[in-house]
Amino acid sequence: MSGRMDWSSRANGPLHGSVRVPGDKSVSHRALMLAAIAEGDSHIRGFLEGEDTRATAAVLAQLGVRIDTPSSGERVVHGAGLHGLRGTTQALDCGNAGTGMRLLAGLLAGQAFDSTLVGDASLSKRPMRRVTGPLALMGARIDTHDGLPPLHVHGGQPLQGIRYELPVASAQVKSALLLAGLYAAGDTEIIEPHPTRDYTERMLAAFGWPIAFAPGRAKLSGGHVLRATDVEVPADFSSAAFFLVAASIVPGSVLRLPAVGLNPRRTGLLQALQLMGADIAVEHRREAGGEPVGDLVVRHAPLHGVELPEALVPDMIDEFPALFVAAAVASGTTVIRGAAELRVKESDRIATMAAGLRALGATIEETPDGAIIHGGRLGGGTVESHLDHRIAMSFAVAGLVAAGAVRIGDCSHVATSFPGFLELANGCGFALQVAP
Ligand code: S3P
Repeated sequence: MSGRMDWSSRANGPLHGSVRVPGDKSVSHRALMLAAIAEGDSHIRGFLEGEDTRATAAVLAQLGVRIDTPSSGERVVHGAGLHGLRGTTQALDCGNAGTGMRLLAGLLAGQAFDSTLVGDASLSKRPMRRVTGPLALMGARIDTHDGLPPLHVHGGQPLQGIRYELPVASAQVKSALLLAGLYAAGDTEIIEPHPTRDYTERMLAAFGWPIAFAPGRAKLSGGHVLRATDVEVPADFSSAAFFLVAASIVPGSVLRLPAVGLNPRRTGLLQALQLMGADIAVEHRREAGGEPVGDLVVRHAPLHGVELPEALVPDMIDEFPALFVAAAVASGTTVIRGAAELRVKESDRIATMAAGLRALGATIEETPDGAIIHGGRLGGGTVESHLDHRIAMSFAVAGLVAAGAVRIGDCSHVATSFPGFLELANGCGFALQVAP
C-alpha cells in the first residue's frame, strides 16, 4: 500500500461516454481459490487486478500454488489438488480484504498444516467470530485476537459437516463454511436469513463438485474432486455503481457501462435508484461465464427520496456509500433501515458517510441500523475515507454536484477494488485530481 494520498473532486459538467469497469472482486477471489485446489490448469479472464485479489493470489502462491500472469487481467492457475497446498511458517497477508481472509479461513481449516492470516489496519478491526464460531462447530481450531485478526488456523483437525443457520446474511461466512465442507466428513448445509450472492455455489458446480443450492440455502458433502475449468469474470456491478449514481445526479449526463455482471443478488442498487426516479436501461442481456451480464445505459434524471425496502439491503450491501450520496442530493427524505452490517465493513459506513456528508452541509441522522437522509444541496469541504475504498469513490461522485471542491482524505485504498478509477472517471468527465 502506498502512502497517504488525498483527492480533490469538483463539478465539471455532464458525464459522457462508455466506461468499462474492472472485473468482479467476489468472483476473482473465488476463482483463484477453487482453481488452486482443483486438478489441472484453470484460465481466469477478466480477473480484477486489485490489491485485494492480488493479495489472495500471493497467499495461494505462498501455499505452493503456481499462478502465471500471461497478461493484465488474466491468470493461469496450476491447481495443486484438494490436498496439494503446502504449509508455510510465514504470515499470510490478506491486505484489506475481508473476503480473502474469511474464505481462506474456511479453506485453511481443512488443511494438515497450521497457518496465520493477517491483514491491514482496517481488516484488523473486522469481526472474525462470525466465521471462526461456526468453523469451530465443524471441528476447526482457529485462534483470534479477541475475535479480531490475526487468525491462527490449526491444521490437522478432522472436520465434520454441519447444518448451520446463519444469524446474519453473509456470503463470506456461507462461503467459508462451504469451503471447509469440502474437507469435512458428511454433509454441510447452510441456511441464510436472506439469500446472498451465490458465486461460491455456482463456481463449485462449474468445477464439478456436487452441490445443491437455491436462494437462501446450499448443501454439499466432502470427498469429491474439483476439476480445473476456465472462468470468465464479469465486470463488477459494485464498481459500476459509482457511475450509475454519478450520471443520475449530474444534469445532461449519459453513460454506457458495457458487460456488467447482473447477478440478482448484486443489483439491489439498480432497483433502489429506479425507485428514486433514475433512468437506467439494461441492454443486450446475455450470459457470460455462467453469469447474467448486460450493458447499462444511465441518463440524468431528477431523484426523489424513498423509504428503502429492507428486502433490498443484502442485494446492495456494498452500494450504500454511493446510495447515501444519491439520497443526499435527491428531493425529499430517504430512510434506510435493516442495514446494521454497514457498521462492520471496511469502515463503519453509516458513521463515515454521515460524517462526510455533514461536512459537506447535508442533513442526516444516523440510526443503529441505517440513516435518515434529507436531500438538498452539497457544498465543498474536506471528508475522510477511513481507509475505505468505497467511501473515497462515493465522495469523488459527491464532488461532481458540490458547490465547491471536495477534498477526500487518504484515497490510497481505492486500488483494493478499483485500480484505475481516477483515470476512468476523468475519461468520462469527472474533475478528479490528486490533491497537493
Ligand atoms: C462478499 C460478501 C459481502 C460483501 C463483500 C464481498 C463476498 O460481505 O460486502 O464486499 O465476496 O462474499 P458479507 O459476507 O460480510 O456481507
